[in-house]
Formats: sequence, structure tokens, C-alpha cells
Amino acid sequence: MSEMVSIDFEQPVSLVPGGGVAAACSTRHAWARVPAEPSRAERGALKDRIRQLLREQQAVLVAHYYVHPDLQDLAEETGGLVADSLEMARFGRDHAARTLVVAGVRFMGESAKILSPDKRVLMPDLDATCSLDLGCPAEEFSAFCDQHPDRTVLVYANTSAAVKARADWMVTSGCALDVVRALTAQGKKILWAPDRHLGDYIRRETGADLLSWEGACIVHDEFKGLELELLKEQHPDAKVLVHPESPADVIALADAVGSTAGILNAARQMDAREFIVATDTGLLHKLRTLNPGKTFIEAPTAGNGATCKSCAHCPWMAMNDLAGVVRVLETGANEVHVDPATGERARLPIARMLDFTAALKDGRSAAGIAPGIGVA
Ligand code: 13P
Ligand code: SF4
Repeated sequence: MSEMVSIDFEQPVSLVPGGGVAAACSTRHAWARVPAEPSRAERGALKDRIRQLLREQQAVLVAHYYVHPDLQDLAEETGGLVADSLEMARFGRDHAARTLVVAGVRFMGESAKILSPDKRVLMPDLDATCSLDLGCPAEEFSAFCDQHPDRTVLVYANTSAAVKARADWMVTSGCALDVVRALTAQGKKILWAPDRHLGDYIRRETGADLLSWEGACIVHDEFKGLELELLKEQHPDAKVLVHPESPADVIALADAVGSTAGILNAARQMDAREFIVATDTGLLHKLRTLNPGKTFIEAPTAGNGATCKSCAHCPWMAMNDLAGVVRVLETGANEVHVDPATGERARLPIARMLDFTAALKDGRSAAGIAPGIGVA
């Protein structure tokens, strides 16, 4: 089970607004750490051991839709959750478990710890990160904020605790449009980080005065509009479902744009039989199990001259596996720690988002639900 997969890979770096490169991320390093698939017998034994450890330790497994199907299924079967990053954060905060095992990437574990400082938060691999997080270092981001004190600082969930601590609001792609519309209605100008495609999408959809950091997701940045048009010609009845971290020419071809949960909802509600999906292929597991009569086709990433060899799968999400969950529950290794002062400050923008989205669900108006909305 220690055999490693190594794949040659190129990736974008993020640009600091005003000049400079923020950080390079080595996905080659991440792919080299993706564990090999266990055999069927090993898989069964690992699952049994996880069920037992979760019970013994009053622990719960919280998984993102992009991680291995085994982890998604086991999370649901054991009373945990598989969800988008917004609902993962809410679930971890509200669950009575003493230990949260977060199968996802680092910012998800950090958000869980920030919201539940008294719980133990474990992750199968603490080096499972995200190109958006890597491409937005706290010091450079803080300097960017200092240059624009008149703007409300809105950051994506896919950032470090230190970046969140500098923000007024945190959003996920599941609620970004609603939050920005509410802020814009109050005359606020926005400073946004780090995903440039999501920032452009928010600006186009809301008309917000939004200044953006120039980060990108190494997975979604590789979807190709031209090749997608050709694929649509081959499947004229297919509906196109797109995550908003994708480039504008891909979003322009979408029948529905949304977070991972938004894509799942759209697939369930639309009466088409065929769908082309522009997001990490990890979501296909849930799309297919929830919609047995429908066909899901991966959107193209590799056109002529494309650099991507990722097959639309996040190497950091792929670092999560059953053996890793067993290891951390048995040894207590890979506990997520967040500096308490940073965590306390970072809790404000996350809590604001959770309150706002809960109130939206309740049907209350944005104006009446966000007392902190006025922060500049
Ligand atoms: P969601 O918030 O849609 O789950 O997305 C998280 C993510 O990392 C997408 O690449
Ligand atoms: Fe980050 Fe993209 Fe991976 Fe999501 S899919 S965790 S945005 S690198």
C-alpha cells in the first residue's frame, strides 16, 4: 500500500495585483503522495476499522465531494457528511462529536478548527492544500488590503486562517453572489481574493465594484471553452454544468453555474438525460449515484497546447484515503492547530457567512440578517 503515483504536471502561479508572483505550487509533489488504491480485501478491513474507531472516539467523518468515493460513502454511512465546503463548515460546528475527521483540503480542516476550537480536528494528510490558498500568502494579501482601506474585504473559503483573519467576510461559491448583492445594495466596494475567475463571475453577475486578486484553481483553470463547444456539438441535448472557478468562456457555455452542491441540485432538477460537467471528477460519484438514469460526461481540459495532465482531479483532494483516516484515528497524528488569536479573528468572517446563509434559508431579508455587513 506504500506504492506512490508520480505524474509530471505543470501549474499556474498567482499574480500579486500591482506586480509580482505570489507563490508557486508543486503539484508534482502532491501527486507523488497520492496513495495507491487498496485491494478489495484491504478496503473492507480499513472500512471496518474506521467504523470501530469513529464509534470508540465519538468522532465523525466529514468529507468533500471531491475525495475518494469510499470516503464519501463511509462518511454518510457512519452518520457524518459529504458536502460542499459551506455545509462542511456548518456541520462540523453544529455536530456534538468531540473529534472531527476532515477528508478534504487544509482550509476545510482549518475552518472546522476555527469554528470549533474545543474539538479535535484530524486530517488524513496535513499537506493536502489548494493552489488558491498557496497563491495568496497572508503578508502580500494584507499589503493589498492596506492599499485599499475603502473596500470591504471578501475572501473565498479556499484561503489560510491568516488571510481570513484579515477579512470582513468569507464566502464559498454557494453563497458568494448573495453576499455580494447584499453588500453592493449597501453601496460597498469589494476587495476580493483569491480566485480570479470566480471574482470575474461575481462582478459580471452582480455588477459589483470588485477588485480581485489573481489566483486560480489548478483544476478548473484548465477547462477549455473551444473544446467544450465541440463536445456540445456531439451532444446537442446535453446540459452543461460548471463550477465558477472555471474560465469565463467555459462559464458562458453553462446551463447552470454553481458550487459542488449547486451542480448536484441542478442535475437533479433538470429533466435532461445527458450532462457535461466542468468540475473535479470527484463529483461524478455523487452525480451518478443520485441520478441513475442520467449520463454525466467530463468537460474537456486538454486541447491543443494545453499544459494540463491532471484529468480534472485535484491532487490534494486525492491525498485523502481510508488508510490515512485509520492512521490519524489510531495515533492522533495530523491534528489541525490554528493560532488562537488568528482563529478568533478568522471566526468573524466565517460566522458572518454562516449566519447570513442560515437567515437566507429561513427566508429573512439580507438587510435584516447581517448586522456586521457594514464593516468597511
Ligand atoms: P465547493 O465550495 O463548491 O465545495 O468548492 C470547493 C472547492 O475547492 C472547489 O474547487
Ligand atoms: Fe483548491 Fe482547486 Fe483543489 Fe478545490 S479543486 S481544493 S480550488 S486546487
